[in-house]
Amino acid sequence: MSQFRGCCPSRRLQKALQFLSVCPTGLLGPGPFLMAFLKKYLLPILMVLLAYYYYSAHEEFRPEMLRGKKVIVTGASKGIGREMAYHLAKMGAHVVVTSRSKEALQKVVSRCSELGAASAHYIAGTMEDMNFAEQFVAEAGKLMGGLDMLILNHVFYSPMTFFNRDTDMVRRSMEVNFHSFVVLSAAALPMLKQSNGSIGVVSSVAGKIPHPLIAPYSASKFALDGFFSSIRKEFAVTRVNVSISLCILGLIDTETAMKGTSGVYEGYAAPKEECALEIIKGTALRQEEVHYSYMPWSSILLQNPGRKVMEFLSTRMFRWDKLKSNQKSP
Ligand SMILES: NC(=O)c1ccc[n+]([C@@H]2O[C@H](COP(=O)([O-])OP(=O)(O)OC[C@H]3O[C@@H](n4cnc5c(N)ncnc54)[C@H](OP(=O)(O)O)[C@@H]3O)[C@@H](O)[C@H]2O)c1
Ligand SMILES: *[C@@H]1O[C@H](CO)[C@@H](O)[C@H](O)[C@H]1NC(C)=O
Ligand SMILES: *[C@@H]1O[C@H](CO)[C@@H](O)[C@H](O)[C@H]1NC(C)=O
Repeated sequence: MSQFRGCCPSRRLQKALQFLSVCPTGLLGPGPFLMAFLKKYLLPILMVLLAYYYYSAHEEFRPEMLRGKKVIVTGASKGIGREMAYHLAKMGAHVVVTSRSKEALQKVVSRCSELGAASAHYIAGTMEDMNFAEQFVAEAGKLMGGLDMLILNHVFYSPMTFFNRDTDMVRRSMEVNFHSFVVLSAAALPMLKQSNGSIGVVSSVAGKIPHPLIAPYSASKFALDGFFSSIRKEFAVTRVNVSISLCILGLIDTETAMKGTSGVYEGYAAPKEECALEIIKGTALRQEEVHYSYMPWSSILLQNPGRKVMEFLSTRMFRWDKLKSNQKSP
C-alpha cells in the first residue's frame, strides 16, 4: 500500500486537518444545509479515515532489514541513485551499482565501502543496450551470490521542450526509461523469486498525470505503471512472492533536474537524500506505491479511487483457473 511520505507524519496530519476544515467552504460553496451536513458528518468521517490512513501503519522500517541484503541500484553514479547506494552501504547491504560513467561509479563504490557496505561493486554500461542490461544482472548476481532487491532508477531525461515531431527522442526515452526496466526485471526474476525479493521502480508524478514539455519522459513513466502494475496483479494470482514498488516522485533537487527545469518550471524541490531513503524504505516494506514529494497533497490526490474500483471489478472477470492450467506462470 502506498503511504504518505516526506516530513514527519504528525506535522502532515496537522496540515491535513487544517486543510480539511477550510476545504468544503472553499471548494464546494454549497447552501447552508449541505454545509451543516458536511460539518456534522463528513468532516469527522474524513478525519477518522485520514487518521486511519496514517496510523494503520504497516510494519515499521528498520535499517537492519537491509543488512546483508544483495541489492542492485541502476543510475547510481549521481543524483537519487547515488544517495540510495550510500544509504544501503550504511545499512550494511551488498551493492552493485551501474551507469555509463566508470569514473563516477568507482568513486561511489569506494565511498560505499567506507560507509560500511557488506560489499560494493560497479559494472559500467549503457541501458540503451538491452544485451548489456541482461548481462549486467547476471554478473551482479554472480558477484553477490543472488539478489534480494532490484532498484531501477536510471533515466534518460528528454529536454523540456514542445514536441517538435522528434520521434527519436520518444524512442530513446522508451528504450532507456521503460524497455530496459522490463529487460532488467525479467533477467532478475529467477533470483528474486528465490529470495522472495523486491523490485523498486522509480517513476514520477509525470507517470501519473500528463506533463507538457516532457511528453517522451512522461510517456515512458506512464508505461512503467502500465507494465509493472499489471505484472504485480499476475504475481498475486500466480503466487510469485516478488514485490513491486512503484515510486512516484515529485521534483527532487538533483543537479540534472535543477538544470533541466531551470527557467521553465517553478516548483519546490525535495531533498534527494531523504527521497533516496524513502524509496529504500517503501521497497523494503513491499509497498505497492511509494510517494515522495514536496507537495504534501500529491500522494492523496494521486490515489485515484476510480482506478481502484475498476481494477477490482476487472480483476474479477478473468478466468484465472482456466488460464493457470493452460499457461506457464512467470
Ligand atoms: N530529480 C527529479 O526531480 C525527479 C522527479 C521525478 C522522478 N525522478 C526519477 O528519479 C530517478 C533518478 O533521477 P535523478 O534526478 O537522480 O537523475 P540523475 O541525477 O540525472 O541520474 C541519472 C542516472 O542515470 C544514469 N544514466 C543516464 N542515462 C543512462 C543510460 N543510457 N544508461 C545507463 N545509465 C544511465 C546516469 O549515469 P551516467 O550518466 O553515468 O550514465 C545517472 O547515474 C529517475 O528515474 C527519474 O525519472 C526524478
Ligand atoms: C520465501 O517465502 C516462503 C513462503 O513464505 C518461505 O517458505 C521461504 O522460506 C521464503 N524464502 C526465503 C529465501 O526467504
Ligand atoms: C513473501 O516474502 C516475504 C519476504 O520474505 C515474507 O515476509 C512473506 O511472508 C512472503 N509471503 C508469502 C505469501 O509467502
